[in-house]
Amino acid sequence: MNYRHAFHAGNSADVVKHSLLIALVRALQLKESALTLIDTHAGCGLYDLGGDEAGRTGEAAQGVLRAFADTNPLLNDYRAAVEAVNGGLAVSVGAEPRLYPGSPQFLAQLLRPQDLLILNEKHPEDAYTLRGTMRGTPAAVHERDAYELWLALLPPRSPRGVVVVDPPYEQTDERARITTTLPAAHRKWAHGVTVIWYPLKDRATHVRWKEQLRRLGIPKLLCVEHWLYDGDQPDIYNGAGLFIVNPPYAFTQALPPLLEALRAALAPEGHRGQIAADWLGD
Ligand SMILES: C[S@@+](CC[C@H](N)C(=O)[O-])C[C@H]1O[C@@H](n2cnc3c(N)ncnc32)[C@H](O)[C@@H]1O
Repeated sequence: MNYRHAFHAGNSADVVKHSLLIALVRALQLKESALTLIDTHAGCGLYDLGGDEAGRTGEAAQGVLRAFADTNPLLNDYRAAVEAVNGGLAVSVGAEPRLYPGSPQFLAQLLRPQDLLILNEKHPEDAYTLRGTMRGTPAAVHERDAYELWLALLPPRSPRGVVVVDPPYEQTDERARITTTLPAAHRKWAHGVTVIWYPLKDRATHVRWKEQLRRLGIPKLLCVEHWLYDGDQPDIYNGAGLFIVNPPYAFTQALPPLLEALRAALAPEGHRGQIAADWLGD
């Protein structure tokens, strides 16, 4: 396990993933009944954008800093969540965030008294940091294998909720583990919402995996794809996306303008980029 999210925190993929997570949970919270939120690959929970790791890649400049330079009100919820971990920093004066919240912090900010948050991180150092970061919140922190925990915790006590699966894809069998675990999880919790993040590197690998997931026959499987460049760039990161099982109706209705706001805010110099959401299942 070599991957450390501190090198990538606040990059363009984080902006899309975290913006959509906020919109998704808010859509589910239109109903009063309790939610269980499970984050299987939680990371550290909070990152220093001025630190050595983030400084070495500079990825936040193409992500969260672009979102803060943008004025589209559809990104206000996302910016407000980042501001919250920066002591309420004022975007209006053009301030740049120094700290970046990971998915556990975004989710914790959304919790209502009736909701539960369960976090999991296998890397011992990151799990230790995560426990410290989440102290004072109601989150429970586990240090287990994500795929074992994903199945073991389903179905949760509340009938409604979300599982967020956000692996680093450093293992060659990561996609295969998801392809195997997802249908088993769906059998245990058919109405639960599942969000699976993935990177877009070469198009052929992505198209092949998408077809394998489509063949699982899971109804209501949405695929969000964000291609950063106007043509495929060989051997580099081309963007990222989310597979979402059972997205709530209010979320899918609000998605097109939010995706367009994200595309426009994150388009690299000289590129328009492309972002789209399509159903894979029925
Ligand atoms: C992409 S990062 C997570 C980022 C986080 N979800 C966020 O949005 O802020 C992936 C994390 O998964 C952890 N990880 C890798 N393999 C794992 C496994 N099999 N089980 C649990 N955690 C794992 C890594 O240590 C890393 O911290």
